[in-house]
Amino acid sequence: MKLQDTQGPLAFGPAAAQTAAAIELCHVSLSFEDKVVLEDVSFSLSRGETLVLLGVTGSGKSVLLRLILGLLKPDSGRILVDGQDVAPLTEPEMFPLRRRMGIVFQEGALFDSLSVYENVAYRLREGGEKSEAQIEQRVREVLRFVELEQTLEKMPSELSGGMRRRVAIARAIASEPEIMLYDSPTAGLDPVTAHTINVLIAKLRDVGGVSTLVVTQRLADAFVLANFAYSSERQALVPAPADGASGQRAATRFVVLRDGGVHFWGSKEELTSNPDPYLRKFLS
Ligand SMILES: Nc1ncnc2c1ncn2[C@@H]1O[C@H](COP(=O)(O)OP(=O)(O)OP(=O)(O)O)[C@@H](O)[C@H]1O
Ligand SMILES: [Mg+2]
Repeated sequence: MKLQDTQGPLAFGPAAAQTAAAIELCHVSLSFEDKVVLEDVSFSLSRGETLVLLGVTGSGKSVLLRLILGLLKPDSGRILVDGQDVAPLTEPEMFPLRRRMGIVFQEGALFDSLSVYENVAYRLREGGEKSEAQIEQRVREVLRFVELEQTLEKMPSELSGGMRRRVAIARAIASEPEIMLYDSPTAGLDPVTAHTINVLIAKLRDVGGVSTLVVTQRLADAFVLANFAYSSERQALVPAPADGASGQRAATRFVVLRDGGVHFWGSKEELTSNPDPYLRKFLS
């Protein structure tokens, strides 16, 4: 049973119907040679909300992020970022849109030969509009945000896995993106370090109002993002009101990819109470 039959695009969230979604995929398909990776994929992420993208290894999660960034082009379908279709855009036309998106790639992917400072400054230099003093100010600011200002001079090889992941987040947020894409940000980290990453993701979302798309294999982390909100006062995560209740928290939606398609798209409650055998197995 394909649940997408009953849950078409824009079926969720009043915000999605009223304003352009931060990200919207409409009937996106992509094959590599004769291998179909994505087929008729549709879902959207409303502004300020969280979308958790789940699926077994090889189900196309990273490919989807590359499509959203315009690094890959779909065979068919539309990929809208803030209402603008990225598929027909050329590389130079993608620049302004890409600046509004921050990405933390799977494995963190820092430049090993550059210091932490240079890694974070990298994208700020791209435009060539900022002075060195402005760049340094911003680099310090974002490193302070991820609580790593003291590592400015270090090389990535001198950092722990969790610290590298936080530097990757600092680098991604340096250009003040409105949309953050995280590819398996807690993979390979111990639970305590993974928690610090979850706190950062929630902090950006709840304090910065950043629309958030997270790919994860760790359901526990996904549920943390759905169930908790960042409190500036407490400087920690606090339980968030349930979906739909009036409160400070924006909604979290889940997408489960399976065999190239969207097998499920909905809230945590709809996911966890769903009788569908594939979902039951996936969640167990
Ligand atoms: N550039 C490419 N050329 C050919 N095939 C590719 C390319 N990129 C990805 N694929 C294939 O597309 C499929 C989806 O890959 P993708 O990396 O998106 O999986 P994933 O869901 O991110 O998996 P994981 O959870 O292991 O990270 C895989 O079968 C992969 O081999
Ligand atoms: Mg991947």
